[in-house]
Amino acid sequence: MRTKVAIIGAGPAGLLLGQLLHAYGIDNVILERQTPDYVLGRIRAGLLEEGTVALLDEVGAGERAHREGLVHEGIELAFGGARHRIAMKAATGKTVMIYGQTEVTLDLMNARKAAGLTSIYQAADVMPHDFDTDHPRVSYRRDGVAHELACDFIAGCDGSHGVSRASVKASAIQTFERIYPFGWLGILSETPPVSHELIYSNHARGFALCTMRSTHRSRYYLQCPLEDRIEQWPDDRFWDELKRRLDRKAVDDLVTGPSIEKSIAPLRSFVAEPMRFGRMFLAGDAAHIVPPTGAKGLNLAASDVHYLSLAFREFYDERSSAGIDGYSAKALSRVWKAVRFSWWMTSMLHKFPDQGEFGARIQLAELDYLVSSKAASTSLSENYVGLPY
Ligand code: APR
Ligand code: PHB
Repeated sequence: MRTKVAIIGAGPAGLLLGQLLHAYGIDNVILERQTPDYVLGRIRAGLLEEGTVALLDEVGAGERAHREGLVHEGIELAFGGARHRIAMKAATGKTVMIYGQTEVTLDLMNARKAAGLTSIYQAADVMPHDFDTDHPRVSYRRDGVAHELACDFIAGCDGSHGVSRASVKASAIQTFERIYPFGWLGILSETPPVSHELIYSNHARGFALCTMRSTHRSRYYLQCPLEDRIEQWPDDRFWDELKRRLDRKAVDDLVTGPSIEKSIAPLRSFVAEPMRFGRMFLAGDAAHIVPPTGAKGLNLAASDVHYLSLAFREFYDERSSAGIDGYSAKALSRVWKAVRFSWWMTSMLHKFPDQGEFGARIQLAELDYLVSSKAASTSLSENYVGLPY
């Protein structure tokens, strides 16, 4: 089999790239290790920047998001027993949309199916080859049979544990990492959200976040020790702890109910440089990870594939390699700003084991400054709604 762009990974990065390339008349094949149901079963953050929504619209996959997504014009920061609103739309003219990553993935999968594009799920032993030559290829096995996909380019959209980045020789890649000394315990419940907007709470017992998937489905997170296991967190304990980290009004308004999903995720910042290796390009989680504070992961995957799709279009339409040569620097410049923002949000809102009373007071001073300074709250808003592409 032969294609122009072989895409490894059918997460949001690979699927969106596939649809953008299709819109530009560039044929592509997706190789995915898992089944579609497995991919759809992964619960992740659910907040889309306007730029991400615009890309979904561009590929004709935004219709349901506009119908079902919740548009938010602000967020609330809770600290010192009170809540303070950051009016993001007033500060930037922009909004964000609450719409689950699972739904984005499903809409993109359906668009791909409708366009009749080739996706090979349950592809085992996927391996990129010869990307330092003009004739790259990807080998894989399906139902025990060996196959090979010849291509012009490989797009490594295979997430943080993928094979693309791992197949680059160590001397060609530099990585940067920060591990945070806590995790996020998240639950999903069939209950109305506690508040119309998201609440980010800095509390002496640890961070809490109240978010949602719809007007009748809530998602809540608690900072927890990395060693904790979900068995230690029966629903009652979760709700009790959440209440302790929220203001009185939120406690009164909170509707609790059985959890329908519960998981613990570690927090990590990670960047790999560069994002291009000859004829192989990394995009999304394959190249970088951010902690979920601020929900930048999916949005960064979207801006990466936006740049990458334009670079490929320039190559095929204008026979120019300027776009592909500039991809890595262009993508990384936006990536690092989001890495900085999510690190900063994480640092300001969580309780760190070694922060002491001094560190706690500095956090409160920063939060107080944020909600009382137009310049500071505008800076937060600008980053939260997403920096321009
Ligand atoms: N061969 C084929 N497919 C692979 C391989 C492999 N060796 N390794 C991983 N994959 C697949 C995974 O099964 C997954 O479906 O690649 C896909 C990567 O998808 P994601 O992990 O979702 O990464 P990405 O598409 O970059 O999405 C961006 O946004 O909210 C954030 O971190 C969150 O996933 C999210 C990200
Ligand atoms: C989510 O809805 O899961 C979410 C929203 C905002 C965040 C993180 C997660 O900052």
